Amino acid sequence: MNSYQNPLRDPQDRRLPRIAGPCVLVIFGVTGDLSRKKLMPAVYDLANRGLLPPGFGLVGFARRDWADQDFAKEVHDAVKEHARTPFREEVWEQLLEGIRFVSGTFDSDESFESLKKTIVELDTTRGTGGNHAFYLSIPPSGFEQVMSQLAKHGLAERHAGTWNRVVIEKPFGHDLASAKELNAVVERLFTPQEVFRIDHYLGKETVQNLLALRFANQMFEPIWNNHYVSHVEITMAEDIGIGGRAGYFDGIGSARDVMQNHLLQLLALTAMEEPTSFEASQLRAEKKKVLAAAHVPQHYDLHTARGQYAAGWQGGEAVIGYLEEEGVPADSKTETYAAIRVDIDNRRWAGVPFYLRTAKRMPRRVTEVALSFKRAPHLPFTVTDTEELGTNALVMRIQPDEGVTLRFGAKVPGTQMEIREVSMDFAYGGSFTESSPEAYERLILDVLLGDPPLFPQQEEVELSWQILDPVLEYWASLDSQPDQYPAGTWGPESSFEMVARDGNSWRRP
Ligand code: BG6
Repeated sequence: MNSYQNPLRDPQDRRLPRIAGPCVLVIFGVTGDLSRKKLMPAVYDLANRGLLPPGFGLVGFARRDWADQDFAKEVHDAVKEHARTPFREEVWEQLLEGIRFVSGTFDSDESFESLKKTIVELDTTRGTGGNHAFYLSIPPSGFEQVMSQLAKHGLAERHAGTWNRVVIEKPFGHDLASAKELNAVVERLFTPQEVFRIDHYLGKETVQNLLALRFANQMFEPIWNNHYVSHVEITMAEDIGIGGRAGYFDGIGSARDVMQNHLLQLLALTAMEEPTSFEASQLRAEKKKVLAAAHVPQHYDLHTARGQYAAGWQGGEAVIGYLEEEGVPADSKTETYAAIRVDIDNRRWAGVPFYLRTAKRMPRRVTEVALSFKRAPHLPFTVTDTEELGTNALVMRIQPDEGVTLRFGAKVPGTQMEIREVSMDFAYGGSFTESSPEAYERLILDVLLGDPPLFPQQEEVELSWQILDPVLEYWASLDSQPDQYPAGTWGPESSFEMVARDGNSWRRP
Protein backbone atom coordinates (compact mmCIF):
# COMPACT_ATOMS: atom_id res chain seq x y z
CA MET A 1 0.00 0.00 0.00
CA ASN A 2 0.97 3.61 -0.26
CA SER A 3 3.29 4.56 2.58
CA TYR A 4 3.26 8.26 1.81
CA GLN A 5 2.87 10.49 4.85
CA ASN A 6 1.40 13.96 4.55
CA PRO A 7 4.44 16.23 5.09
CA LEU A 8 2.36 18.89 6.77
CA ARG A 9 1.96 16.55 9.71
CA ASP A 10 5.60 15.97 10.42
CA PRO A 11 7.96 18.94 10.26
CA GLN A 12 10.93 16.54 9.98
CA ASP A 13 9.66 15.45 6.58
CA ARG A 14 9.12 18.85 5.10
CA ARG A 15 12.28 19.15 3.10
CA LEU A 16 12.11 15.69 1.59
CA PRO A 17 11.02 15.82 -2.05
CA ARG A 18 7.73 14.09 -2.62
CA ILE A 19 8.58 11.58 -5.32
CA ALA A 20 5.94 9.31 -6.80
CA GLY A 21 6.48 5.55 -6.62
CA PRO A 22 6.40 3.23 -9.64
CA CYS A 23 3.13 3.49 -11.57
CA VAL A 24 1.28 3.82 -14.86
CA LEU A 25 -0.86 6.83 -15.73
CA VAL A 26 -3.55 6.03 -18.29
CA ILE A 27 -5.22 9.04 -19.89
CA PHE A 28 -8.55 8.57 -21.62
CA GLY A 29 -9.36 11.40 -24.03
CA VAL A 30 -5.70 12.04 -24.61
CA THR A 31 -6.28 13.88 -27.91
CA GLY A 32 -8.30 16.62 -26.18
CA ASP A 33 -7.24 20.16 -25.45
CA LEU A 34 -6.79 19.63 -21.71
CA SER A 35 -4.46 16.76 -22.25
CA ARG A 36 -2.34 18.61 -24.81
CA LYS A 37 -2.16 21.92 -23.00
CA LYS A 38 -2.05 20.80 -19.38
CA LEU A 39 -1.73 17.08 -18.63
CA MET A 40 1.11 16.02 -20.90
CA PRO A 41 3.22 19.12 -20.17
CA ALA A 42 2.62 18.60 -16.44
CA VAL A 43 3.82 14.99 -16.65
CA TYR A 44 6.99 16.17 -18.38
CA ASP A 45 7.52 18.97 -15.83
CA LEU A 46 7.24 16.45 -13.01
CA ALA A 47 9.76 14.21 -14.75
CA ASN A 48 12.05 17.18 -15.28
CA ARG A 49 11.87 18.05 -11.59
CA GLY A 50 12.85 14.48 -10.72
CA LEU A 51 9.48 13.75 -9.12
CA LEU A 52 8.57 10.77 -11.28
CA PRO A 53 10.23 7.41 -10.70
CA PRO A 54 12.23 5.58 -13.37
CA GLY A 55 9.44 3.01 -13.33
CA PHE A 56 6.81 5.25 -14.88
CA GLY A 57 4.50 4.61 -17.81
CA LEU A 58 2.19 6.99 -19.68
CA VAL A 59 -0.54 5.38 -21.72
CA GLY A 60 -2.78 7.38 -24.05
CA PHE A 61 -6.15 5.93 -25.02
CA ALA A 62 -8.13 7.48 -27.87
CA ARG A 63 -9.83 6.75 -31.17
CA ARG A 64 -6.97 7.90 -33.41
CA ASP A 65 -5.25 5.28 -35.44
CA TRP A 66 -1.86 6.00 -33.93
CA ALA A 67 1.16 3.88 -33.11
CA ASP A 68 3.22 4.54 -29.96
CA GLN A 69 5.58 6.78 -31.96
CA ASP A 70 2.76 8.96 -33.25
CA PHE A 71 1.49 9.52 -29.75
CA ALA A 72 5.02 10.13 -28.50
CA LYS A 73 5.38 12.83 -31.13
CA GLU A 74 2.14 14.44 -29.91
CA VAL A 75 3.42 14.41 -26.34
CA HIS A 76 6.75 15.79 -27.50
CA ASP A 77 5.08 18.68 -29.37
CA ALA A 78 2.73 19.42 -26.46
CA VAL A 79 5.69 19.47 -24.07
CA LYS A 80 7.74 21.73 -26.32
CA GLU A 81 4.86 24.14 -26.66
CA HIS A 82 3.35 24.17 -23.18
CA ALA A 83 5.77 22.78 -20.58
CA ARG A 84 6.79 25.17 -17.82
CA THR A 85 10.34 23.91 -17.40
CA PRO A 86 13.09 23.81 -20.05
CA PHE A 87 13.23 20.90 -22.48
CA ARG A 88 15.99 18.46 -21.61
CA GLU A 89 16.72 15.67 -24.03
CA GLU A 90 17.78 13.15 -21.34
CA VAL A 91 14.54 13.64 -19.39
CA TRP A 92 12.51 13.27 -22.55
CA GLU A 93 14.38 10.09 -23.58
CA GLN A 94 13.62 8.46 -20.25
CA LEU A 95 9.95 9.46 -20.35
CA LEU A 96 9.71 8.24 -23.94
CA GLU A 97 10.66 4.70 -22.93
CA GLY A 98 7.42 4.42 -20.95
CA ILE A 99 5.07 6.05 -23.49
CA ARG A 100 2.44 3.81 -25.11
CA PHE A 101 -0.72 4.38 -27.11
CA VAL A 102 -3.85 2.28 -27.31
CA SER A 103 -6.09 3.04 -30.24
CA GLY A 104 -9.65 2.22 -29.33
CA THR A 105 -13.21 3.11 -28.50
CA PHE A 106 -15.05 2.81 -25.22
CA ASP A 107 -17.45 0.19 -26.53
CA SER A 108 -14.78 -2.15 -27.82
CA ASP A 109 -13.71 -5.15 -25.74
CA GLU A 110 -10.75 -5.56 -28.00
CA SER A 111 -9.52 -2.06 -27.17
CA PHE A 112 -9.67 -2.71 -23.45
CA GLU A 113 -7.94 -6.08 -23.83
CA SER A 114 -5.23 -4.24 -25.68
CA LEU A 115 -5.09 -1.65 -22.90
CA LYS A 116 -4.71 -4.43 -20.38
CA LYS A 117 -1.88 -6.03 -22.35
CA THR A 118 -0.13 -2.67 -22.58
CA ILE A 119 -0.37 -2.09 -18.85
CA VAL A 120 0.85 -5.59 -18.02
CA GLU A 121 3.73 -5.12 -20.44
CA LEU A 122 4.70 -1.86 -18.69
CA ASP A 123 4.40 -3.49 -15.28
CA THR A 124 6.80 -6.19 -16.41
CA THR A 125 9.29 -4.26 -18.52
CA ARG A 126 9.29 -0.88 -16.79
CA GLY A 127 8.71 -2.09 -13.24
CA THR A 128 5.62 0.04 -12.74
CA GLY A 129 4.61 -2.25 -9.92
CA GLY A 130 0.94 -2.91 -10.71
CA ASN A 131 -0.02 0.62 -9.63
CA HIS A 132 -2.42 2.29 -12.03
CA ALA A 133 -4.13 5.68 -12.23
CA PHE A 134 -6.93 6.08 -14.79
CA TYR A 135 -7.45 9.70 -15.79
CA LEU A 136 -10.86 10.34 -17.37
CA SER A 137 -10.31 13.46 -19.44
CA ILE A 138 -13.57 12.74 -21.26
CA PRO A 139 -17.17 14.00 -21.12
CA PRO A 140 -19.16 12.43 -18.26
CA SER A 141 -21.37 10.68 -20.80
CA GLY A 142 -18.45 8.30 -21.37
CA PHE A 143 -17.91 7.42 -17.68
CA GLU A 144 -20.35 4.53 -17.48
CA GLN A 145 -18.87 2.73 -20.44
CA VAL A 146 -15.28 3.20 -19.33
CA MET A 147 -16.13 2.03 -15.82
CA SER A 148 -17.83 -1.13 -17.01
CA GLN A 149 -14.99 -1.89 -19.41
CA LEU A 150 -12.40 -1.43 -16.68
CA ALA A 151 -14.42 -3.81 -14.49
CA LYS A 152 -15.02 -6.35 -17.24
CA HIS A 153 -11.36 -6.54 -18.18
CA GLY A 154 -10.14 -6.77 -14.63
CA LEU A 155 -8.36 -3.43 -14.80
CA ALA A 156 -9.58 -2.19 -11.45
CA GLU A 157 -8.89 -5.38 -9.50
CA ARG A 158 -7.12 -4.93 -6.24
CA HIS A 159 -3.98 -6.88 -5.53
CA ALA A 160 -1.98 -6.83 -2.31
CA GLY A 161 0.63 -4.11 -2.28
CA THR A 162 -0.64 -2.30 -5.38
CA TRP A 163 -3.11 0.51 -6.00
CA ASN A 164 -5.70 1.61 -8.56
CA ARG A 165 -7.04 5.16 -8.68
CA VAL A 166 -9.42 7.02 -10.90
CA VAL A 167 -9.16 10.72 -11.68
CA ILE A 168 -12.23 12.58 -12.88
CA GLU A 169 -12.55 16.04 -14.32
CA LYS A 170 -15.47 18.36 -13.93
CA PRO A 171 -18.28 18.89 -14.79
CA PHE A 172 -19.34 16.57 -11.98
CA GLY A 173 -22.90 16.45 -13.27
CA HIS A 174 -25.09 19.37 -14.31
CA ASP A 175 -27.16 19.48 -11.12
CA LEU A 176 -27.44 17.67 -7.80
CA ALA A 177 -29.37 14.69 -9.14
CA SER A 178 -27.03 14.03 -12.07
CA ALA A 179 -23.97 14.50 -9.82
CA LYS A 180 -25.30 11.72 -7.60
CA GLU A 181 -25.92 9.46 -10.58
CA LEU A 182 -22.45 10.09 -11.94
CA ASN A 183 -20.89 9.36 -8.60
CA ALA A 184 -22.81 6.12 -8.28
CA VAL A 185 -21.34 5.03 -11.61
CA VAL A 186 -17.78 5.78 -10.48
CA GLU A 187 -18.13 4.38 -6.97
CA ARG A 188 -19.58 1.14 -8.24
CA LEU A 189 -16.01 0.30 -9.16
CA PHE A 190 -13.77 2.52 -7.05
CA THR A 191 -13.92 3.23 -3.32
CA PRO A 192 -14.24 6.92 -2.31
CA GLN A 193 -10.55 6.85 -1.31
CA GLU A 194 -9.62 5.78 -4.83
CA VAL A 195 -11.53 8.61 -6.54
CA PHE A 196 -9.63 11.87 -7.19
CA ARG A 197 -11.87 14.71 -8.40
CA ILE A 198 -9.89 17.45 -10.07
CA ASP A 199 -10.70 21.06 -9.30
CA HIS A 200 -7.57 22.59 -10.76
CA TYR A 201 -8.01 25.79 -8.72
CA LEU A 202 -7.06 23.83 -5.61
CA GLY A 203 -3.75 22.98 -7.27
CA LYS A 204 -2.85 26.66 -7.63
CA GLU A 205 -0.21 27.95 -5.23
CA THR A 206 -2.14 31.12 -4.56
CA VAL A 207 -5.24 29.17 -3.58
CA GLN A 208 -3.22 27.12 -1.12
CA ASN A 209 -1.77 30.37 0.12
CA LEU A 210 -5.23 31.29 1.36
CA LEU A 211 -4.69 28.64 4.03
CA ALA A 212 -1.21 29.93 4.84
CA LEU A 213 -2.36 33.53 5.05
CA ARG A 214 -5.27 32.73 7.31
CA PHE A 215 -3.84 30.06 9.56
CA ALA A 216 -0.09 30.72 9.72
CA ASN A 217 -0.56 34.32 10.88
CA GLN A 218 -2.06 35.92 13.91
CA MET A 219 -3.00 39.27 12.44
CA PHE A 220 -5.73 38.35 9.96
CA GLU A 221 -7.93 35.86 11.77
CA PRO A 222 -9.17 38.24 14.51
CA ILE A 223 -10.72 40.52 11.87
CA TRP A 224 -11.90 37.69 9.61
CA ASN A 225 -15.57 37.90 10.59
CA ASN A 226 -18.75 39.97 10.50
CA HIS A 227 -17.51 42.41 13.15
CA TYR A 228 -15.01 43.80 10.68
CA VAL A 229 -15.77 42.50 7.20
CA SER A 230 -18.58 44.22 5.31
CA HIS A 231 -18.62 41.97 2.25
CA VAL A 232 -16.47 39.57 0.26
CA GLU A 233 -16.04 39.49 -3.52
CA ILE A 234 -14.78 36.44 -5.35
CA THR A 235 -14.08 37.28 -8.96
CA MET A 236 -12.94 35.05 -11.77
CA ALA A 237 -12.84 37.17 -14.90
CA GLU A 238 -11.53 35.92 -18.22
CA ASP A 239 -10.75 38.08 -21.21
CA ILE A 240 -11.11 35.21 -23.68
CA GLY A 241 -14.38 34.34 -25.37
CA ILE A 242 -15.66 30.87 -25.93
CA GLY A 243 -13.24 30.22 -28.82
CA GLY A 244 -13.53 26.69 -30.15
CA ARG A 245 -15.22 25.32 -27.03
CA ALA A 246 -18.87 25.89 -27.96
CA GLY A 247 -19.45 22.13 -27.98
CA TYR A 248 -18.54 21.94 -24.31
CA PHE A 249 -19.69 25.34 -23.08
CA ASP A 250 -23.02 25.98 -24.75
CA GLY A 251 -25.81 24.56 -22.63
CA ILE A 252 -23.46 24.48 -19.60
CA GLY A 253 -22.75 28.16 -19.03
CA SER A 254 -20.50 30.02 -16.62
CA ALA A 255 -22.27 29.06 -13.41
CA ARG A 256 -21.98 25.31 -14.01
CA ASP A 257 -18.56 25.62 -15.65
CA VAL A 258 -16.68 27.40 -12.88
CA MET A 259 -18.96 28.70 -10.13
CA GLN A 260 -20.14 25.29 -8.96
CA ASN A 261 -16.54 24.21 -8.51
CA HIS A 262 -13.72 26.80 -8.54
CA LEU A 263 -15.60 29.73 -7.03
CA LEU A 264 -17.44 27.78 -4.37
CA GLN A 265 -14.19 26.08 -3.38
CA LEU A 266 -12.60 29.53 -3.04
CA LEU A 267 -15.55 30.58 -0.91
CA ALA A 268 -15.15 27.47 1.27
CA LEU A 269 -11.44 28.13 1.86
CA THR A 270 -12.08 31.80 2.60
CA ALA A 271 -14.98 31.26 4.99
CA MET A 272 -14.27 27.95 6.73
CA GLU A 273 -13.11 27.53 10.31
CA GLU A 274 -9.56 26.46 11.09
CA PRO A 275 -9.14 22.73 10.46
CA THR A 276 -7.39 20.75 13.19
CA SER A 277 -4.81 19.72 10.57
CA PHE A 278 -4.45 19.79 6.80
CA GLU A 279 -5.25 16.11 6.54
CA ALA A 280 -7.89 15.46 3.91
CA SER A 281 -10.59 14.45 6.37
CA GLN A 282 -10.10 17.53 8.56
CA LEU A 283 -9.89 20.00 5.71
CA ARG A 284 -12.90 18.52 3.95
CA ALA A 285 -14.91 18.49 7.18
CA GLU A 286 -14.46 22.27 7.54
CA LYS A 287 -15.23 22.95 3.89
CA LYS A 288 -18.36 20.84 4.10
CA LYS A 289 -19.54 22.62 7.22
CA VAL A 290 -19.32 26.03 5.63
CA LEU A 291 -20.84 24.93 2.32
CA ALA A 292 -23.73 23.40 4.23
CA ALA A 293 -24.34 26.78 5.89
CA ALA A 294 -24.25 28.69 2.59
CA HIS A 295 -27.17 29.58 0.34
CA VAL A 296 -28.25 32.16 -2.19
CA PRO A 297 -30.96 34.30 -0.59
CA GLN A 298 -34.38 33.87 -2.14
CA HIS A 299 -35.63 36.51 -4.57
CA TYR A 300 -33.15 35.25 -7.08
CA ASP A 301 -34.16 38.12 -9.34
CA LEU A 302 -32.55 40.49 -6.83
CA HIS A 303 -29.52 38.50 -5.73
CA THR A 304 -28.28 36.99 -8.97
CA ALA A 305 -27.39 38.28 -12.42
CA ARG A 306 -26.60 36.58 -15.69
CA GLY A 307 -25.34 37.93 -18.96
CA GLN A 308 -24.15 37.01 -22.42
CA TYR A 309 -21.43 38.91 -24.26
CA ALA A 310 -22.37 40.86 -27.33
CA ALA A 311 -19.91 42.09 -29.95
CA GLY A 312 -17.44 44.58 -28.56
CA TRP A 313 -13.78 45.48 -28.24
CA GLN A 314 -11.04 43.49 -26.58
CA GLY A 315 -7.46 44.68 -26.40
CA GLY A 316 -8.05 47.15 -29.22
CA GLU A 317 -9.63 44.55 -31.50
CA ALA A 318 -13.25 44.16 -32.53
CA VAL A 319 -14.61 40.80 -31.33
CA ILE A 320 -17.84 38.98 -32.10
CA GLY A 321 -20.66 38.30 -29.69
CA TYR A 322 -21.41 34.92 -28.11
CA LEU A 323 -24.28 34.18 -30.47
CA GLU A 324 -22.02 34.68 -33.49
CA GLU A 325 -19.39 32.22 -32.19
CA GLU A 326 -18.99 29.06 -34.25
CA GLY A 327 -21.16 26.24 -32.99
CA VAL A 328 -23.40 28.42 -30.80
CA PRO A 329 -27.11 28.29 -31.74
CA ALA A 330 -28.43 31.72 -32.72
CA ASP A 331 -31.01 31.60 -29.91
CA SER A 332 -28.72 30.20 -27.18
CA LYS A 333 -29.67 31.25 -23.66
CA THR A 334 -26.39 30.10 -22.17
CA GLU A 335 -24.87 32.64 -19.79
CA THR A 336 -21.27 33.79 -20.21
CA TYR A 337 -21.57 36.02 -17.13
CA ALA A 338 -22.87 34.80 -13.79
CA ALA A 339 -23.03 36.57 -10.44
CA ILE A 340 -24.67 35.42 -7.23
CA ARG A 341 -24.84 36.57 -3.66
CA VAL A 342 -24.18 33.86 -1.10
CA ASP A 343 -25.08 34.22 2.57
CA ILE A 344 -23.53 32.02 5.21
CA ASP A 345 -25.66 31.17 8.19
CA ASN A 346 -23.20 30.96 11.02
CA ARG A 347 -21.95 33.18 13.81
CA ARG A 348 -18.84 34.29 11.96
CA TRP A 349 -20.52 35.36 8.72
CA ALA A 350 -24.16 36.22 9.41
CA GLY A 351 -24.89 39.51 7.63
CA VAL A 352 -21.84 39.44 5.34
CA PRO A 353 -22.73 38.94 1.68
CA PHE A 354 -20.27 36.91 -0.39
CA TYR A 355 -20.54 38.04 -4.02
CA LEU A 356 -19.33 35.55 -6.59
CA ARG A 357 -18.93 36.54 -10.22
CA THR A 358 -17.37 34.97 -13.25
CA ALA A 359 -17.44 35.78 -16.93
CA LYS A 360 -15.89 35.45 -20.33
CA ARG A 361 -14.86 38.52 -22.35
CA MET A 362 -14.19 40.81 -19.43
CA PRO A 363 -11.71 43.67 -19.86
CA ARG A 364 -8.93 41.57 -18.33
CA ARG A 365 -8.10 38.15 -16.94
CA VAL A 366 -8.10 38.26 -13.17
CA THR A 367 -9.07 35.98 -10.31
CA GLU A 368 -9.12 37.39 -6.80
CA VAL A 369 -10.72 37.10 -3.40
CA ALA A 370 -11.31 40.53 -1.85
CA LEU A 371 -12.44 41.20 1.70
CA SER A 372 -13.84 44.70 2.15
CA PHE A 373 -13.88 46.02 5.68
CA LYS A 374 -16.41 48.19 7.45
CA ARG A 375 -15.71 51.85 7.95
CA ALA A 376 -14.10 52.80 11.28
CA PRO A 377 -16.96 53.49 13.72
CA HIS A 378 -15.78 57.05 14.16
CA LEU A 379 -13.56 59.22 11.94
CA PRO A 380 -11.99 62.16 13.81
CA PHE A 381 -11.51 64.07 10.55
CA THR A 382 -13.54 66.51 8.56
CA VAL A 383 -15.57 65.12 5.70
CA THR A 384 -13.24 66.69 3.14
CA ASP A 385 -10.19 65.12 4.81
CA THR A 386 -11.50 61.67 4.06
CA GLU A 387 -13.10 62.26 0.69
CA GLU A 388 -10.54 60.01 -1.00
CA LEU A 389 -10.51 57.34 1.68
CA GLY A 390 -11.86 54.18 0.09
CA THR A 391 -12.83 50.96 1.78
CA ASN A 392 -10.10 49.08 3.63
CA ALA A 393 -9.59 45.87 1.70
CA LEU A 394 -7.49 42.74 1.69
CA VAL A 395 -7.17 41.30 -1.79
CA MET A 396 -5.76 37.88 -2.46
CA ARG A 397 -4.66 37.92 -6.07
CA ILE A 398 -5.02 34.36 -7.30
CA GLN A 399 -3.86 35.21 -10.84
CA PRO A 400 -2.17 36.86 -12.63
CA ASP A 401 0.26 39.13 -10.62
CA GLU A 402 -0.02 36.54 -7.85
CA GLY A 403 0.16 38.05 -4.41
CA VAL A 404 -1.73 39.92 -1.73
CA THR A 405 -2.68 43.59 -1.53
CA LEU A 406 -3.79 45.53 1.50
CA ARG A 407 -5.61 48.78 0.82
CA PHE A 408 -5.94 51.42 3.49
CA GLY A 409 -5.93 55.18 4.01
CA ALA A 410 -2.72 57.21 4.49
CA LYS A 411 -2.00 60.89 4.94
CA VAL A 412 -1.13 62.72 1.76
CA PRO A 413 2.15 64.62 2.40
CA GLY A 414 1.52 68.30 2.93
CA THR A 415 0.28 70.80 5.45
CA GLN A 416 -3.31 69.57 5.36
CA MET A 417 -4.74 66.42 6.88
CA GLU A 418 -5.85 64.71 3.73
CA ILE A 419 -6.36 60.96 3.62
CA ARG A 420 -6.01 58.95 0.44
CA GLU A 421 -6.28 55.27 -0.30
CA VAL A 422 -2.93 53.48 -0.77
CA SER A 423 -1.80 49.87 -1.31
CA MET A 424 0.71 47.62 0.34
CA ASP A 425 1.70 44.73 -1.88
CA PHE A 426 3.16 41.29 -1.55
CA ALA A 427 4.07 39.84 -4.94
CA TYR A 428 5.24 36.26 -5.38
CA GLY A 429 7.75 37.34 -8.00
CA GLY A 430 9.37 39.88 -5.65
CA SER A 431 9.50 37.66 -2.55
CA PHE A 432 10.37 34.21 -3.80
CA THR A 433 12.95 32.97 -6.25
CA GLU A 434 11.11 29.65 -6.67
CA SER A 435 8.61 29.68 -9.51
CA SER A 436 5.17 28.22 -8.92
CA PRO A 437 4.38 24.81 -10.32
CA GLU A 438 1.35 24.56 -12.59
CA ALA A 439 -1.80 23.39 -10.82
CA TYR A 440 -1.84 20.16 -12.83
CA GLU A 441 1.73 19.31 -11.83
CA ARG A 442 0.78 19.43 -8.20
CA LEU A 443 -2.48 17.56 -8.67
CA ILE A 444 -1.10 14.78 -10.86
CA LEU A 445 1.73 14.28 -8.39
CA ASP A 446 -0.77 14.10 -5.52
CA VAL A 447 -2.80 11.49 -7.41
CA LEU A 448 0.29 9.36 -7.94
CA LEU A 449 1.24 9.77 -4.29
CA GLY A 450 -2.31 9.05 -3.13
CA ASP A 451 -2.41 12.33 -1.22
CA PRO A 452 -6.04 13.52 -1.12
CA PRO A 453 -6.40 16.94 0.63
CA LEU A 454 -6.56 18.95 -2.59
CA PHE A 455 -9.35 16.89 -4.12
CA PRO A 456 -12.96 17.74 -3.28
CA GLN A 457 -15.09 14.93 -2.00
CA GLN A 458 -18.45 13.95 -3.43
CA GLU A 459 -20.26 15.56 -0.51
CA GLU A 460 -18.65 18.92 -1.29
CA VAL A 461 -19.71 18.54 -4.91
CA GLU A 462 -23.27 17.84 -3.82
CA LEU A 463 -23.36 20.73 -1.37
CA SER A 464 -22.18 23.06 -4.12
CA TRP A 465 -24.96 21.90 -6.41
CA GLN A 466 -27.41 22.41 -3.58
CA ILE A 467 -26.35 26.06 -3.44
CA LEU A 468 -26.54 26.57 -7.19
CA ASP A 469 -29.49 24.42 -8.26
CA PRO A 470 -32.25 26.85 -7.19
CA VAL A 471 -30.56 29.67 -9.11
CA LEU A 472 -30.16 27.56 -12.23
CA GLU A 473 -33.79 26.48 -12.00
CA TYR A 474 -34.86 30.08 -11.61
CA TRP A 475 -32.83 31.21 -14.62
CA ALA A 476 -34.22 28.34 -16.71
CA SER A 477 -37.77 29.24 -15.67
CA LEU A 478 -37.32 32.76 -17.08
CA ASP A 479 -36.94 31.25 -20.52
CA SER A 480 -35.40 34.50 -21.70
CA GLN A 481 -32.13 35.70 -23.12
CA PRO A 482 -29.49 36.62 -20.51
CA ASP A 483 -28.78 40.36 -20.29
CA GLN A 484 -26.33 41.46 -22.97
CA TYR A 485 -23.00 43.13 -22.18
CA PRO A 486 -20.52 44.34 -24.77
CA ALA A 487 -17.37 42.21 -24.90
CA GLY A 488 -14.56 43.96 -23.05
CA THR A 489 -16.79 45.42 -20.32
CA TRP A 490 -17.40 44.38 -16.71
CA GLY A 491 -20.80 42.81 -17.27
CA PRO A 492 -24.48 43.69 -17.65
CA GLU A 493 -26.19 46.54 -15.87
CA SER A 494 -28.14 44.02 -13.78
CA SER A 495 -24.92 42.82 -12.15
CA PHE A 496 -24.15 46.31 -10.88
CA GLU A 497 -27.70 46.71 -9.65
CA MET A 498 -27.45 43.41 -7.81
CA VAL A 499 -24.70 44.66 -5.47
CA ALA A 500 -25.96 48.25 -5.39
CA ARG A 501 -29.16 46.96 -3.75
CA ASP A 502 -27.04 46.11 -0.69
CA GLY A 503 -25.28 49.48 -0.83
CA ASN A 504 -22.12 47.93 -2.32
CA SER A 505 -20.30 48.08 -5.62
CA TRP A 506 -17.98 45.69 -7.46
CA ARG A 507 -14.29 46.36 -7.20
CA ARG A 508 -12.48 47.22 -10.42
CA PRO A 509 -9.72 44.62 -10.24
C1 BG6 B 1 -11.86 25.70 -16.55
C2 BG6 B 1 -13.09 26.15 -17.29
O1 BG6 B 1 -12.20 24.91 -15.44
O2 BG6 B 1 -11.14 26.84 -16.08
C3 BG6 B 1 -12.74 27.09 -18.42
O3 BG6 B 1 -13.76 25.01 -17.82
C4 BG6 B 1 -11.86 28.23 -17.92
O4 BG6 B 1 -13.92 27.61 -19.03
C5 BG6 B 1 -10.69 27.67 -17.12
O5 BG6 B 1 -11.41 28.95 -19.04
C6 BG6 B 1 -9.86 28.78 -16.52
O6 BG6 B 1 -8.76 28.24 -15.85
P1 BG6 B 1 -7.55 29.16 -15.40
O7 BG6 B 1 -6.67 28.26 -14.62
O8 BG6 B 1 -6.94 29.68 -16.67
O9 BG6 B 1 -8.14 30.26 -14.59
